Amino acid sequence: MSQGTRSLARDLAAHVEWMAMSGVDELAPGLAWPEGMASPDAEASQSEGPEIVSSDGETLTAGDLGGLRAEIGDCTRCRLSGTRKQIVFGSGNPDARLLFVGEGPGRDEDLQGLPFVGRAGELLTDIIEKGMKIDRAEVYICNVVKCRPPDNRNPEPEEVAACSPFLIRQIDLVRPEVIVALGKFAAQTLLQTTMPITRLRGRWHEYRGVALMPTFHPAHLLRNPAFKKEVWQDIKEVMQRLGMGDR
Ligand code: URA
Repeated sequence: MSQGTRSLARDLAAHVEWMAMSGVDELAPGLAWPEGMASPDAEASQSEGPEIVSSDGETLTAGDLGGLRAEIGDCTRCRLSGTRKQIVFGSGNPDARLLFVGEGPGRDEDLQGLPFVGRAGELLTDIIEKGMKIDRAEVYICNVVKCRPPDNRNPEPEEVAACSPFLIRQIDLVRPEVIVALGKFAAQTLLQTTMPITRLRGRWHEYRGVALMPTFHPAHLLRNPAFKKEVWQDIKEVMQRLGMGDR
């Protein structure tokens, strides 16, 4: 299978998986992977993945985050590409035990190409470094959508659908022990629910076999500092689960 075909097939497989999680059983009546045929995901995971040569000549494989980023390329899969300045892929430790997922890049992130670097990001950094007492570089941070929605509106369903195969593969590549979903949008999107964040937070959920803790978004805390107490409770749960104890 050529690199392009395999990449397309893997995107399709992740998209079908996402739709299945959303309650859609079939793409069209009768359309499914032929029985006995390994999904492209399974096939790719047995090999190192296709080779991709990045613009600076580095050879990457789609089996790592660099390869995945190269595969996203100068993405035009949804209309956010028309207004974004940069794709904000994610940052941090590719072997992180803890992965944070936010909603989507804001203005500062769009300018710098990095997630959570604005005021909400500073608060997230404080939660990680002052609260959990670990370096921000030890964890992995990404968003549901990788491009800034104009005027900081919520991402539209088709934008989430276009980006979701990449989030799924990012999470599968990092394979964290715990995911923290930051805010209503990330929590509801990952868990495919409309339950309010006030009910989701503080309880353990599961996403693709990984323990997931929803909590309030740091931007919400900037507007409502009283909710810091709840976020700290949620973060302490996470630390306990990771065997980090009281620090
Ligand atoms: N808010 C988010 O959800 N993500 C970012 O990267 C920054 C702010």
